[in-house]
Amino acid sequence: MLAKLSVPQKAALCLGSDFWHTAPVSELGIEAVMVSDGPHGLRKQTERAADAGLRASESATCFPTASALGCSWDTDLAREVGAALGVEARAQNIAAVLGPGINIKRHPLCGRNFEYFSEDPFLSGRLAAAMVDGLQSQQVGGCVKHFAANNQETDRMRVSADVDERTLREIYFPAFEHVVTAAKPWLVMCSYNKVNGEYASQHRWLLTDVLREEWGFDGLVVSDWGAVHDRVAALRAGLDLEMPPKLGVSDRAIVAAVEAGQLDEAVLDRAAGRVLRLVLRSRRRQPAEMDAVAHHALARRAAAQSLVLLKNDGALPLTGMAGRTIAVIGEFARTPRFQGAGSSQVSPTRVDVPLDALAAALPGATLRFAPGYRIDSPGPATDSGLPSGSGPATDGGAGGDLAAEAVRAATGTDVVLLFLGLPPAEESEGYDRARIDLPDAQTSLLTRLAGAAPGTPIVAVLCNGGAVRTSTWDHAASAVLECWLAGQAAGSAIADVLTGAVNPSGRLAETIPLWLANCPAYLNFPGEEGHVRYGEGVFAGYRGYDALELPVAYPFGHGLSYSSFSYRDLRIRQTGSADAGDLAVTVRCTIGNTAGPAGAEVVQVYVSDPAAAVARPPRELKAFAKVSLEPGAEQEVTFTLTARDLSYWSAVHRRWVLEGGEFGIYVGASSRDIRLSAAITVAATPPALPLSGTSTLTEWLTDPDGGQVLRDALGTRADGRPGGILGSEDLLAIIGNMPLATLAAFPGLGVTEELIDNLVAAVIERRLEATQGAPQR
Ligand code: BGC
Repeated sequence: MLAKLSVPQKAALCLGSDFWHTAPVSELGIEAVMVSDGPHGLRKQTERAADAGLRASESATCFPTASALGCSWDTDLAREVGAALGVEARAQNIAAVLGPGINIKRHPLCGRNFEYFSEDPFLSGRLAAAMVDGLQSQQVGGCVKHFAANNQETDRMRVSADVDERTLREIYFPAFEHVVTAAKPWLVMCSYNKVNGEYASQHRWLLTDVLREEWGFDGLVVSDWGAVHDRVAALRAGLDLEMPPKLGVSDRAIVAAVEAGQLDEAVLDRAAGRVLRLVLRSRRRQPAEMDAVAHHALARRAAAQSLVLLKNDGALPLTGMAGRTIAVIGEFARTPRFQGAGSSQVSPTRVDVPLDALAAALPGATLRFAPGYRIDSPGPATDSGLPSGSGPATDGGAGGDLAAEAVRAATGTDVVLLFLGLPPAEESEGYDRARIDLPDAQTSLLTRLAGAAPGTPIVAVLCNGGAVRTSTWDHAASAVLECWLAGQAAGSAIADVLTGAVNPSGRLAETIPLWLANCPAYLNFPGEEGHVRYGEGVFAGYRGYDALELPVAYPFGHGLSYSSFSYRDLRIRQTGSADAGDLAVTVRCTIGNTAGPAGAEVVQVYVSDPAAAVARPPRELKAFAKVSLEPGAEQEVTFTLTARDLSYWSAVHRRWVLEGGEFGIYVGASSRDIRLSAAITVAATPPALPLSGTSTLTEWLTDPDGGQVLRDALGTRADGRPGGILGSEDLLAIIGNMPLATLAAFPGLGVTEELIDNLVAAVIERRLEATQGAPQR
């Protein structure tokens, strides 16, 4: 097809034709295809015209946002949600869905954290790959975004994320890498921001060297909406499709660059070819009917699997409530907040209201409702007529009378269900949050309720996209259920979990800190003067809290169940070898449901390298499984770790390095609730250090080849001690960290430029001999 296209036609293909469509080539029968947001529900805009508005969209199922689904730790569920999203896309004639978003939650105040799965790349990658898999099982493309290092909204269109390569490789890339290699998404969306000074949209190393050449990505790279600055530079770097199109500008620039010999036509062919491939792929898509009732039921099941029971002193589940009185306090119980604002905002097919769902789930109980506070902001507008997750108009939130009314409603009841959450205007795409706390009107209401009815259990039910501080008030609550933004069926799912119809099994995908200043990224967020420095390096999220030995409110991986689970019989077996490239560490243990109803435990495997050449996190998640168990049942679970799971990215060697030696393997119910552990010893030959005059004396000596040639060159003294500078331990301690070239500047030490040249040559020869066998002399 490409051969039949002119340069202007190919250039046109590298731009959309409007806000959501690719360009058609009618002469050749190439149709335009439509892409659409979003990550947790379709946002097909009703008007075809270029419209940057976030308003009208076709109604679609609003599944739990990633903030919630990430806490399910359930890849099968993520796949199911992805497939359902695919069916809705088929019903709406959508070629690809612009999601999931898989940026790492680097800091709790990122306004878009509700759209991202986790602070951990392993968990994010596994869930996202499953979701893309589900989506693409329907012949609808997935589009992981935003590549890369888009971890804040502040200045997101320009800021340079200044991140060292090891941190990119270990924290900010692996989720993308896993999705690309395991699920083969049709599209990857580049981010708006710069990465180390270069716009992601024109970052060749990101979009071509790493994404395509290393990871083998064979799909289409699309810009984030408006992320292209220099269309030709972006094309050269590997950005195939510009959205929305700068019609008449970008296409002309491409044609002019080809004509002037500044852009190789082969580069244009590649990009246009990838757009054509998207069109061809999407021709396989069959129309579908969407079953709104079934999808709502899935949204409810998914939400229920994702809610995290943070604390429970026995107040939950609510059983035997017939004849009892329950106070349901909080505007959010009546006006639910279940999704966030911005490009992911869905017009839901229906919305379950917690208050109604509770009334239905607790027959025979008397429910007394009081709003307790006003939700401070009206939130973004929607045309759908259904709640967008925003609250009603407000009085500014002082809420004095409302609190008094709530206390009256709660007095004399058997239990208080207090709905708390973030007002929609406090978090959204486009800006970061100003604070981590819940509104004062809400926390002070909790204090008043606790004081007015001591002895009446208060169950706090939280709805928020980003983490909120709990440590200032959760002592006054008997139980805390974190619901995140769990989609249109959240109301019913909350009732399911509170009443025990569903045994909670969500686990935190991010740490809830005691206070914000403990966050590892705290001093480097959101940056200044155009730069945000990822100064915490690989110590993002729990990796940092653990390394700093900081207490947290609720650790990564935490979540309670109505059942208790036992862990026993850890067995670890190694097969293959790191050097041969087939190392497999099999970790087995047996999990039991020892008390309580049927339920699911999330078994988490962390690893550590206690003595490493680089600073490594004390624990890193490398495997997990969600295991469903009937009461009294036991099940063996098996995980397989590879060399990569034990390795770090070496900036010196520019590759993954597994350092032979001891590793810790921890199996637990959270990053801080380790139930079984063992040390294993893994053999691996260290990679050869490139040795030169700038390598230190110690580096020369600790390298097997370097040490040998140096000792050979300096000889042995009559008394048997090594010769020259190697003869004195005291001297070695002082000059050990001096580069050889610097030592050569000191007369009398016996190190000369000539000696260094000879040493370097000798090391190269030894290494060649080792890899190729001894050369013929
Ligand atoms: C967002 C993307 C989204 C796109 C299209 C951008 O502003 O960052 O996530 O897919 O708009 O709505």
